[in-house]
Amino acid sequence: MKVLITGSNGQLGSEIKELASNYENLECVFKDLPELDICDTKVLNTFIIDQHINAVINCAAYTAVDKAEEDLETASKVNVKGVLNLVNALKKVDGKLIHISTDYVFDGNHSQPYKETDPVSPKGVYGEMKRAGELAVLNSSIDAIVIRTSWLYSAYGNNFVKTMLRLGNVKESIQVVFDQIGTPTYAKDLAKTCLDILSNAGSTNISKKGKIYHYSNEGVTSWYDFAKAIMEISNIECNVIPIETKDYPTQAIRPLYSVLDKSKITSDFKVIIPHWRDSLANCLKKINHNS
Ligand SMILES: NC(=O)c1ccc[n+]([C@@H]2O[C@H](COP(=O)([O-])OP(=O)(O)OC[C@H]3O[C@@H](n4cnc5c(N)ncnc54)[C@H](OP(=O)(O)O)[C@@H]3O)[C@@H](O)[C@H]2O)c1
Repeated sequence: MKVLITGSNGQLGSEIKELASNYENLECVFKDLPELDICDTKVLNTFIIDQHINAVINCAAYTAVDKAEEDLETASKVNVKGVLNLVNALKKVDGKLIHISTDYVFDGNHSQPYKETDPVSPKGVYGEMKRAGELAVLNSSIDAIVIRTSWLYSAYGNNFVKTMLRLGNVKESIQVVFDQIGTPTYAKDLAKTCLDILSNAGSTNISKKGKIYHYSNEGVTSWYDFAKAIMEISNIECNVIPIETKDYPTQAIRPLYSVLDKSKITSDFKVIIPHWRDSLANCLKKINHNS
């Protein structure tokens, strides 16, 4: 199977790049801006048809959650039109799609992990556009699944873990919100899951049991506890001070609770999900090794 990974220089795309050679039945092709813009309908169609692409893992996205509040146009172009372009191009070649979405489609008013069947109610532009992108996939007839994930981090790109390491090494103390509850996701674990799903599918449909799935690491935490764990595992002596969300205003409102229920993905695809703290330790080992 020939698989195109779009947005391949981002966190998830980079992790897929590292793992791809372990999958003998997948021939992966990695593309990002400016070479392959998913918003460019003509270029995308030509590429998918001419290169005989059988499947796409869409890691391309506009992920600037706060900036999106003032840049609806770009957020919508990449996260909706780009996704629609992929769906339409894959329709022409009968190709499969794994599209990545977000916990920000939920309003965060739950106190139980969100299931795939729970109603969505995004609180900001980013969440709204990601939901519209989901619908472009869900309303199509192609063999496609949407995987919603949360609090993604990796050794690549910019993310919470790398920000904490940077600040922890130069500051005596740091304030982090303790009243936003969720689960971190090591992009490497999600990358493996995407590749496993395609590799095991062969010629069968990936969407035969459902079209939406939830994936994060196991366990539940707050950003404060996540920051504490980053400092502890890295032996950084920085005092992490818990604060409330109201004392750390951001342009976009975040869901206060966004724990995802992963039972569907674990049962349909036999996925084994590591605990967030174990995955964090693995990622920190890699970051320290690289630095
Ligand atoms: N990061 C999180 O905390 C988080 C949480 C939940 C869900 N997700 C979802 O998980 C997925 C992967 O996220 P990530 O953190 O790996 O994202 P990322 O690091 O921001 O990577 C996205 C990549 O897509 C590229 N891109 C942007 N517009 C493009 C276009 N028009 N055509 C092709 N490529 C384009 C970006 O290039 P530039 O950098 O040049 O723009 C970047 O290389 C996304 O769908 C995201 O919405 C992320």
